[in-house]
Amino acid sequence: MASRSRGATRPSSTAAAANKNLQFKLVLLGESAVGKSSLVLRFVKGQFHEYQESTIGAAFQSKTVSLGDVTIKLDIWDTAGQERYHSLAPMYYRGAQTAIVVYDITSTETFERAKNWVKELHRQANPNIVIALAGNKADMMDKRAVEHQEGQEYAEENGLLFMETSAKTGLNVNDIFMAIANKLPKNDPQVGAGQAGRSRTGVDLHDTSPQNRSRCCSAFVGGSSS
Ligand code: GTP
Ligand code: MG
Repeated sequence: MASRSRGATRPSSTAAAANKNLQFKLVLLGESAVGKSSLVLRFVKGQFHEYQESTIGAAFQSKTVSLGDVTIKLDIWDTAGQERYHSLAPMYYRGAQTAIVVYDITSTETFERAKNWVKELHRQANPNIVIALAGNKADMMDKRAVEHQEGQEYAEENGLLFMETSAKTGLNVNDIFMAIANKLPKNDPQVGAGQAGRSRTGVDLHDTSPQNRSRCCSAFVGGSSS
């Protein structure tokens, strides 16, 4: 069933979104050892390592997901949580359309640190950024220090998506990435194209116009102008 109807009339805005390939930049932030790399490893490769090495600087992975007729490529920047790398973070969240801020449900310090990341994103990131809060290590219920309700309430007050996750068991890992993918704007990527380095929507990979190409590069090379 060929649904390539480029020349056909578009009867509705739903049809206008058909067969779109969009690309978004996603950044993970949070205290060291909360499980950022483990969440990415679980989502991208379906694996978990008990002895996951601490990230140096940042690591990159990408994964493509489908949402009906829309294909979404997520370019995932997994940042290093150690304090000495903090100053690098803006390079990764600048130009990001979405962020997952992670804490460890067994540690109140990491929850406080997550709140600081949310504040920093609200102050300095793309104003339309979609933020999800992940309370990770939800398999360690017996050591729980942050109640589910605390995370949920903070997320509601601050307009964040929220889930408790476990990179170890896989609980809610796909779900949180898919919830984000669902929430990202699927409207015409030309909208907002004038804002250099602050793209409000994803890049339409089918659109090879020069305007789209320049949006692509300013959004994915740490906001640098080329
Ligand atoms: P940095 O790279 O230093 O910022 O740390 P990170 O946030 O990427 O944490 P990482 O994924 O390296 O995980 C730290 C440790 O926690 C590793 O030993 C993981 O195996 C473990 N871990 C990660 N996620 C989970 C989880 O959901 N449950 C349990 N029980 N352990 C986890
Ligand atoms: Mg890591």
